[in-house]
Amino acid sequence: MKIVKAKDYEDMSLKAAKVISAQVIMKPNCVLGLATGSTPIGLYKNLVQWYNEGNLDFGDVTTVNLDEYRGLPKENDQSYYYFMHTNLFDYVNVNPERTNLPDGTNPDAEQECARYEAVIQEAGGIDLQLLGLGHNGHIGFNEPADAFDKETHCVDLTERTIEANKRFFASADEVPKQAYTMGIGTIMKAKKILVVVSGADKADIVKEAFFGPVTPQVPASVLQLHPDVTIVADEAALSKCDLS
Ligand code: GLP
Repeated sequence: MKIVKAKDYEDMSLKAAKVISAQVIMKPNCVLGLATGSTPIGLYKNLVQWYNEGNLDFGDVTTVNLDEYRGLPKENDQSYYYFMHTNLFDYVNVNPERTNLPDGTNPDAEQECARYEAVIQEAGGIDLQLLGLGHNGHIGFNEPADAFDKETHCVDLTERTIEANKRFFASADEVPKQAYTMGIGTIMKAKKILVVVSGADKADIVKEAFFGPVTPQVPASVLQLHPDVTIVADEAALSKCDLS
């Protein structure tokens, strides 16, 4: 694991965007695995800016997102489809036909998860997967569990995740209780992984996930076993880790 120390959120967003930009420059037809949440917003802004300045071309890029709430239509402003469009896709030249997310409106979970897994495979696998980190160590929506889930599956969100995400909804009751998410196996098959973390409230989980034992109770800990992981974290998020 490579840990890149950033000064603050802005610096983290800049450094992480540079890693994604380098991937797109090195392989213009790459498959980017993308993430939602508040952490990547700044890095997406940088990518949009560099695209506008003529320094980045998404014309041949394929994207696959980590997860989507089950039951939320695309037009719902809390769907991850809506998030990706309003934070990135609508502002760069990515081909909409090559952007992919699980379809939260497909009520047939088994069929949707199998479809999504096939989409990733047919795209040739993920070159670079971007990940945020949940407070309980979840990645995508892989919640703490007794075993690592391998493929895209339907999950029941934990109370903690519902609580953390309710800030985006009118009330906790409106937060969907389930989601479709890539599995740990899907994520681990990505050639490269880029994790972004910011803020003192993530300091405990950063230490646990990246310096503690590998356990499905802390899903992100599995990343310690991946051969090419870069963590871009700010000083506050790294404040409980001994990096000397
Ligand atoms: C959500 C998403 C994750 C994300 C996490 C952290 O639950 N499904 O992909 O990494 O929250 O979000 P934030 O970056 O807002 O802390």
